[in-house]
Parts: sequence; C-alpha cells; structure tokens
Amino acid sequence: MSSVVHVAVHRSQFPESVRRDLIESLRRRRVNHKFHYDSVRQTQKWLALHEACSPARREADCETLYDRSFDAAARRLKAGRVHVIGLGCGGGWKDTRLLTRLKAGGRTVFYTPCDVSVAMTLVARRAALRVVPKGRCFPLVCDLASADDLPGTLEAQGPPDAARLVTFFGMLPNFEVSVILPKLAAIVRREDLLLAGANLAPGRNYDDGMKRILPQYDNVLTRDWLMTFLLDLGVERDDGEIRFCIEDDPSGGSLKRVAADFRFSRARRIQVDAERFTFRRGESIRLFFSYRHRPGQIRSLLDPHGLRVMERWVSASEEEGVFLCRRK
Ligand SMILES: C[S@@+](CC[C@H](N)C(=O)[O-])C[C@H]1O[C@@H](n2cnc3c(N)ncnc32)[C@H](O)[C@@H]1O
Repeated sequence: MSSVVHVAVHRSQFPESVRRDLIESLRRRRVNHKFHYDSVRQTQKWLALHEACSPARREADCETLYDRSFDAAARRLKAGRVHVIGLGCGGGWKDTRLLTRLKAGGRTVFYTPCDVSVAMTLVARRAALRVVPKGRCFPLVCDLASADDLPGTLEAQGPPDAARLVTFFGMLPNFEVSVILPKLAAIVRREDLLLAGANLAPGRNYDDGMKRILPQYDNVLTRDWLMTFLLDLGVERDDGEIRFCIEDDPSGGSLKRVAADFRFSRARRIQVDAERFTFRRGESIRLFFSYRHRPGQIRSLLDPHGLRVMERWVSASEEEGVFLCRRK
C-alpha cells in the first residue's frame, strides 16, 4: 500500500496567499477564521471541540435529521454515479454518512473533500475511504472565500458523467454572506443539488435563543482552540483574555451572531517576517464570529443568489437545520 496521498492545492492556499491573508488579519485586527484550522494542532483541537459540543454529534435526533436530508437528496438524483463535493468538509463525518447512504442505495460514489486545511482534508479523506475507493477520492485544499476560479477547478475534479451533490455544512455561520454566497452560487450548476447546514438560534425569541446557545462557544474547549492562533504568533496567555458577546450583523441585516475578541491587558508586539504589529493595552482583536440563523432567514439569504430551498429539516432542539437547494 502506498504511503503517498495526492492532494491538490489551489493557489489561494499557496504560502504567499496565506501570508498575505495573515498580514491582512493582523492589520485589520480581524482574524480570517481560516487561521483557526491551519495547523495539525488546531485541527485536532477543533475536532475534539466539535465532538463535545456540536448538536450533530451529541443529539440522536440531529443524526436522523441529516439522514433524512441525505435520503431526500438521493431520491432526487437519478444518476447511478454521484460525485459528492464537500465544501469546508472538516473531519468529513457528515459527508461520509451521506456517502455511506448513497452507496447503500446502489450508487457509485466519488468524493472531493475540500477544505482550507490540509490536515482537515486528509482526516475527511481517511473517514471517507471506508466507503469510497482511493481512486475515487480527490482531496482539494483551497480558500473558498478568495479562490475565483473554483467552478472550473471543481468541474475538472470528478468524472464528467456523474451527478453532483455539493455539501456546505456548518459554513454559513462563519462567513459574511456577501462574501461567500456569490462564490457558492457560482459553484452550484443548474443540474446539481446543494445540501447546506446551518446552526440556528432556537425558540420564538431571537435574543433568548442566542443567550441559550452562548455556552456552546463560551467554554474552555473553544477558548483553548481560539487561543492557539495567538499563542502560535508569540502572544502569551496572560497578555489578556478572550471575551464573548452577542451582536447584531454589523452590515445592518437582521442576523445576530456570537463573537469572540481577545482584549490585551498589556502591550504585545507580534512579528511576521519583516512586518511588526503592536497591540496596546486595552486594544482588542476579533478572533471569531458565528452567525446563528432562524430557519426562515436561510431561504431569504439564498434566494437573491439564485438558490432555492426545496426542503428543510430542523432538529427538535431547533439548533440545527439542513436545507436541500437547487439553482432557480
Ligand atoms: C465549522 S467547520 C465545519 C466542518 C464540517 N463541514 C462540519 O459540518 O462538520 C468549518 C470548516 O471550514 C473550513 N474553512 C474555514 N475557512 C475556510 C475557507 N476560507 N475555505 C475553505 N474552507 C474553510 C475549516 O477548515 C473547517 O473545516
């Protein structure tokens, strides 16, 4: 058995692009969330956090929700050969469950695990190899937010005669919609299906729902995972502290999000090659945000980008939703 895996790397994740994005994050005091998944250590920490906190992993009902959406997608796909493209695949747990069901239904499956992190892409590939033969798995590392030729890149990834099912699980919360939705809409072709998953704010009252889910972020595992980025740059733990808050969408929309900032309680200088960044006492850097949607908001977010929600499933806890979509 070969110990070499071929992973395609898009230029959006070449070292010069990553360095440019890191400098931009430090300059703007806003960390591009892709930097929280970069290293092997961050990947391991996030996978442990996901295992401990994600409703998809903790609630049996949530597993059923995903399975129902997978079966609905399978019913709509007429082709015998199906190429699953997992955008921001993470550890590939959900995609592998989908692939397993497609295979059990007699489909020949192909898989493109696609993520900004090499480590994550390899973890997803390994999970999927339980159901997809090596020769039908095409790992791709890329930055979905900055790559501008992804439709063509993905077109070339799989067999031209296979039906395509694009997954976009847990991705909507961490991007500004104005950045990511045009990219997603350009990838999904008229004949493709899209399964998008979103973390929701439960209950009738948006503010109460946000307060209810806050402990899923404001906890030791999340703080430890987010802190890794700063520690790797030379910040020390007692240079300050991470503070969580709930805030309105700064672009003026109706969405709310959980955000985490690191507030410096003493000055710290960070150096990246020749570039120096000084953080003064009392200054903050935005580490992370996560939008929590209401089920109805997903339809109105996707609609202007030409994506129509055909079916949706919401967990009993109302904290997770899956949306089956197609181009209008
Ligand atoms: C919240 S996780 C979701 C993982 C998985 N889809 C799931 O639902 O379990 C977000 C994933 O998106 C990836 N990611 C973050 N920024 C990205 C970007 N700009 N382009 C591609 N992937 C990105 C991360 O590496 C991580 O695996």
